[in-house]
Amino acid sequence: MSRLDKEQARSRIEELRRQIHYHDYRYYVLNDPEIPDAEYDRLFRELVELERAFPEFVTPDSPTQRVGGEPQEQFRKIRHRSPMLSLDNAFSEGELREFDRRLRRFLGLSSGDSIEYAVEPKFDGVSANLYYENGRFQWGATRGDGRVGEDITLNLKTVKSIPLNLLPQSPIPDRIEVRGEVYMELSEFRRLNAQRLQEGLSPFANPRNAAAGSLRQLDPRETAQRRLNIWVWGVGIAEGVTIRSQVEALQKLRAWGFRVSPLARVVSSIEEAIAYHHELERQREAFDYEMDGVVVKVNTFELQEKLGWTARAPRWAIAYKFKPSEALTRIKKIVVNVGRTGILNPVAVLDPVEVGGVTISRATLHNEDEIRRKDVREGDWVWVRRAGDVIPEVIRSVPERRTGTERVFVMPERCPSCGHDVIRQGAHHVCPYPGCPAKIQEILAYFVSRNAFNIEGLGDQNIRKLLEAGLIRDPADLFTLTPEKLQALEGFAEKSAQNLIRAIDRARTIPLARFLYALGIPQVGAKTAQVLARVAGTLDRLMTMTREELEQIRDIGPVTARSIYEFFHDPAQRALIEKLRAVGVTPLPEVTEPAAATPWTGKTFVFTGELERFTRREAQAWVERLGGRAVSSVSRRTDYVVVGKNPGSKARRARDLGVTIMDEET
Ligand code: IVH
Repeated sequence: MSRLDKEQARSRIEELRRQIHYHDYRYYVLNDPEIPDAEYDRLFRELVELERAFPEFVTPDSPTQRVGGEPQEQFRKIRHRSPMLSLDNAFSEGELREFDRRLRRFLGLSSGDSIEYAVEPKFDGVSANLYYENGRFQWGATRGDGRVGEDITLNLKTVKSIPLNLLPQSPIPDRIEVRGEVYMELSEFRRLNAQRLQEGLSPFANPRNAAAGSLRQLDPRETAQRRLNIWVWGVGIAEGVTIRSQVEALQKLRAWGFRVSPLARVVSSIEEAIAYHHELERQREAFDYEMDGVVVKVNTFELQEKLGWTARAPRWAIAYKFKPSEALTRIKKIVVNVGRTGILNPVAVLDPVEVGGVTISRATLHNEDEIRRKDVREGDWVWVRRAGDVIPEVIRSVPERRTGTERVFVMPERCPSCGHDVIRQGAHHVCPYPGCPAKIQEILAYFVSRNAFNIEGLGDQNIRKLLEAGLIRDPADLFTLTPEKLQALEGFAEKSAQNLIRAIDRARTIPLARFLYALGIPQVGAKTAQVLARVAGTLDRLMTMTREELEQIRDIGPVTARSIYEFFHDPAQRALIEKLRAVGVTPLPEVTEPAAATPWTGKTFVFTGELERFTRREAQAWVERLGGRAVSSVSRRTDYVVVGKNPGSKARRARDLGVTIMDEET
């Protein structure tokens, strides 16, 4: 960088901040990055260096100041500009209709008139009040008692989807309070809890507690380690702008760069609000965050003002709750499962109970320390909980309900599946035997699961049959199966055997992110797998990344980076990857920009000879993802022939026909 004078530095700093804010918005709010991460990192580093050279230009709203500041002694108190009230709850259609009748009576509407409602998810998180002056974030506070909350500004600044500056999209308010729910995504919650269990800490009972605990850290650097997010759902005071309805508020907030739920709607009657509730309750499992109901709000501010507030809550809004995700039941006994990593997982076998609309009969207890800590015994009454597609958990016991017949549980000293001596790793009991049948069964089940290879027709039972018949020993063996081999097994007819083989064949070509997920790298769930695929592009690139390079990746912490590095340097894992490739499994390289038209669009490619950095299939897959076509023989209509080592006759033919020839590097 050439040396800049002070004035140049200042304007460059401003320009960089503007760009970085915009790209943070694309990445964290819209989930639609416009530039590659490497480019973003370059902008960020340039800003860091300039601010180091010109410290007088550092301001609290600089993107470099998201994680900063010293640990605090305690949180300051802050008075909200307008109070943050609570909501009344409804638990049935009847209660919601009663709410609507009450409002219409209050407003003196006749039975023919209906009220327009804004409906939104009720996010299960921690509410926060964000205060902006002239478009700049000033402070943020917890709800507290509704009038006075705690100043958690430094922690909120680590939440990347909270704008430090409003986007200058439309007139911005002089002063505004923005309200929303800070929450932890389920994938992050799982990652954090897995890490905590690994470190011998007790896991958080639910994502809300995890978010609350993270926001209450006195050291903002701790909060920054937990990836939190926000859904914004309303405004408090708003000066210098006119907002006439809830829906308009949400539109404006979205335009200013806040993360507003795409699920928010306007409906024209209470019946539609009820339908919306049912629709969301049906879908709630599909989201990576928890909702505990829907909030129904009178849309126009004019009517809201007419209706007013009671001491506790507004009259114009109500929370219509979903079926609870926790329930009380009894533990019949505790059994031990062996997971794919060999960890012995104590599982409570329950009296079946309905939780959030699904009947469950098993729940995890994590490990022996957790059982001790929660004092859970066989025969105990317990609270259980489920979240999304996470395995249900035992949250706590209810000792008051004991009769004296409950039994204290002890972990076995031998693996219940293979009988090998169990070893202790931190808080976990682990079966160290690589050939343990239970482990292999779990590895395979994970490999074919929905987010991984998604092979239909390969349930636990079929996997067990294949293992017992000695047809497979690892995931790669799946791809060597034939209909004949399957038909020799009990329960496979000609048709079902052919269907399964077809499903396996289709799975051979797989997006890199799914492939990475299927490998079961510790700490790498679906989300991290996507980040890795996007950043690395190809499997080979990822496998050769250094620990430092991995740590540099946005949203990947040191613990995960080390885990990935160690995984790819484990000879057994490398051997499995080679074996998968040998049987034709092809992870499709990730292409960042699914650009509408690229220089590759419609062009025909032929590959000949050995490539160094890709297998043939990967190179072909890449071309196709970029919009080109990969074919196997050279003709006059071929656009390019890519020549590797020891090319065959295709290179010669290309030369004869005058087709453009290039090497792998080009
Ligand atoms: S509106 C005047 N909308 O639920 C109160 N609240 O139980 C207006 N919450 O304290 C609240 N999602 O923290 C509103 N879409 C949403 C919400 C929401 C979650 C929380 C909020 C509130 C609590 C009340």
